[in-house]
Amino acid sequence: MADDRAATAAAAESVERAVSARIAPSDDFLARVAQVRERLVARAEAAARERSSPLVRALVAGSAARGTFLQDRLDVDLFLLFPSDLGRERLREEGLALGRAILTDPETRYAEHPYLRGSFDGFRVDAVPGYAVADPSAPLSPVDRTPFHQAYLAERESPELVAQVRLTKQFLRSLGVYGSEARTEGFSGYLVELLVLRFGSLRAMLAAARAWRLPVRLAEPGHEPPRLPADVALILPDPVDPHRNVASALSRRNLALVVLAAQEYLRHPSESWFAIRPRPTLARAEALRRVEARASHVAVVRLPRPDLVDDTLYPQVRKAERAFGEEIARAGFEVLGSASAAGPDRVLVAVEVAHARRSAVRVQEGPPAGLDRVGHFLEKWARPDAPVHQGPFVRPDGHLAVEARRSDRELEEVVRGFVPRLALGKDLTPRAPEAVEIFPLAGAPESPVLEEVLGELLAKRLPWLEPP
Ligand code: UTP
Ligand code: MN
Repeated sequence: MADDRAATAAAAESVERAVSARIAPSDDFLARVAQVRERLVARAEAAARERSSPLVRALVAGSAARGTFLQDRLDVDLFLLFPSDLGRERLREEGLALGRAILTDPETRYAEHPYLRGSFDGFRVDAVPGYAVADPSAPLSPVDRTPFHQAYLAERESPELVAQVRLTKQFLRSLGVYGSEARTEGFSGYLVELLVLRFGSLRAMLAAARAWRLPVRLAEPGHEPPRLPADVALILPDPVDPHRNVASALSRRNLALVVLAAQEYLRHPSESWFAIRPRPTLARAEALRRVEARASHVAVVRLPRPDLVDDTLYPQVRKAERAFGEEIARAGFEVLGSASAAGPDRVLVAVEVAHARRSAVRVQEGPPAGLDRVGHFLEKWARPDAPVHQGPFVRPDGHLAVEARRSDRELEEVVRGFVPRLALGKDLTPRAPEAVEIFPLAGAPESPVLEEVLGELLAKRLPWLEPP
């Protein structure tokens, strides 16, 4: 038994060494990144002088500053910091103007506030304006803590830890849970670095993670950030701003997947745990075969995509998915599952129900005998033309009831009926309810987003298992 464990640890060791070697950037590449960092900062400072811009400081932070990046998704994060008394509008203008002066083919993007993405010496660069603040626990914009993160990590990270950070990012990426974007709800780069600092290595972190029960509390007792949401997955205060939870973007589902994967990886380590896996997709024809085998039914709702970035849109898309699922269940269907995604032009929500048609009978409960309201109930339901199958009658518990007739029974028809009064969130509610289209799966137009949604709906399986 002890021998087994030693053998598995040795196997994990050699897997990790091989993967580390494969994903480590070459010395040559690291030297180029270092040069780009210097040139970017020098260029920003020169451009600020030329324009008499009030720039306080330019710095490269993020993984490119520390060597903790995965080479095939490297972005260089250039932060342009301005005085804290500069108005927000001026910050935006000055920051973007400076970014435009530095970058080739700059494109404006919006996170919580605008930044520019462009290229510089062949590298992809994000130029992000922010405020130079003295205290990271009182940031004026969401990126103002960044220089403090950079200082905190740079002081503590050795080359061994840097290699462990890359390895951990790759492990999480393989599981599809790396990235704090709203679409992914995974681990941010900064969170990974803090976890590796805390546990010392990927393996030590996974050994601890095997026994994690959600929510995982990694704060000192009595030092948890305030106002944590009820569904928080992991609590780890930001060392530079203890009121903030570094893991706020991480979902329970994604953390639970890592807890399970930790156990499996430590028992059966192999390089496949670090392989890049495409998101599961399912072609419509295959999805239809599965739906037929399940004797269920799938409807697809298609909405026009509002002009929003994924980070703003995805929380609304998930909310809309929940709203459709709940309303369909309330309408008397047995909901088996739902999925959603946003494509370039459209947002799709798919819902699977056990039966395509709901029952033609709707039980309508009335007041108990003896109440005044009985009169109204009878007036409404006892008329000869009332739409009832049977009743009014008295139930064993003494309440009145009728079994009313339903006219619309098909899922698509029912959804079409309730769409105009469904709260879909402020940006997803189309101006005209007709813009919401509802198809049975067989009639839904094919698209890559549809295949993604169908993968999420009908190909659920732990990512490390062989396909069935
Ligand atoms: P990144 O998301 O680029 O992370 O944010 P990263 O550490 O460079 O990791 P990868 O390798 O690209 O995935 C860069 C830095 O910006 C700060 C964090 O300090 C992070 O390290 N940041 C980012 C914020 O403070 N707030 C944000 O909302 C986003
Ligand atoms: Mn980055």
